[in-house]
Amino acid sequence: MVQSGRTAAVLAFLMIGAAVFSANAQSPDRPASRPASPKHGTVFQSPATQALQADDGANPAMLWVGQGETLWSAPAGPENKSCATCHADGTQSMKGIAATYPKLDPKSGQLLNLESRINQCREQHMHAPAYTYESAQLLALTAYVTIQSRGMPRQVTVDGPAAAHFERGRAFYMTRQGQLNLACAQCHDDNVGEKLRGDTISQGQTLGWPGYRLEWQTMGSLHRRLRACSLGVRAEILPFGSPDYVALELYLAWRSKDLPLESPAVRR
Ligand code: HEC
Ligand code: HEC
Repeated sequence: MVQSGRTAAVLAFLMIGAAVFSANAQSPDRPASRPASPKHGTVFQSPATQALQADDGANPAMLWVGQGETLWSAPAGPENKSCATCHADGTQSMKGIAATYPKLDPKSGQLLNLESRINQCREQHMHAPAYTYESAQLLALTAYVTIQSRGMPRQVTVDGPAAAHFERGRAFYMTRQGQLNLACAQCHDDNVGEKLRGDTISQGQTLGWPGYRLEWQTMGSLHRRLRACSLGVRAEILPFGSPDYVALELYLAWRSKDLPLESPAVRR
């Protein structure tokens, strides 16, 4: 049973690969582009999943948002500082912030996603240990900060010193990977709307993340979702927070320019 399900899934992947291969020569040189009619990932979910997301009282991700709100004012480190010590009311001070990430840190020159930005505050400003990626606390705080941008348009900077990161993300997105030899673009640009293992392939927008995935029965970061796509094509699964995934995150954020954030999303 398990075996035949697996075989069918691999066959489905291969069929997509083969169809695209014959129709469209893919290469890492394919230019950066945005979907002609941009759509949120939620549009590709079932009506039941959409309803779950739309109702804050039923959306399971709201549990993490609530935990994040508590953590926001929980003191840590030798000076007993909390996020609230410096950023006061998060519902005000964090408004619109998540929509601008990933963002270049002017001090270090590093491209930071929201998770690494939060951890930088923990380490540098609170002298408290960084949270582990995918820990309940980091997911909760990321979800809390991100919901303050819900409904606000995505706006990331990709020029100047960020340009090299953008280019790295674009190249990653366009390059065929894994045993199935598929690029992100072959699914999320060329096969949008097709069925794959019970999913409908979306445009691969990142506006709903962090989000709650029913298959995981928990909240997950965008990098967890990206790792699932890497696994899907049997490519190398990069570590959480890896510079390649953060650069990819910048490219994906640029693709969704001006679309409003919808995190915390619910996904199949
Ligand atoms: C074989 C097809 C396939 C490939 C290749 C693939 N994905 Fe996916 N991806 C999926 C499917 C199926 C889903 C789940 C349904 C959906 O939301 O599109 C998904 C979901 C996503 C999502 C979540 C979208 C949302 O709104 O929740 C993102 C982001 C994403 N993929 C990015 C990528 C990136 C980046 C790559 C390349 C590293 C990639 N995918 C490669 C099939 C693919
Ligand atoms: C001691 C003061 C202090 C504490 C405590 C602190 N921060 Fe910060 N935070 C800053 C400063 C200062 C900046 C501006 C960037 C810098 O200089 O590091 C910043 C920047 C940020 C940003 C980026 C804002 C932007 O415009 O891009 C986020 C997000 C953030 N902090 C979240 C948090 C969270 C979440 C916590 C609690 C875990 C926290 N901070 C704790 C001082 C603090």
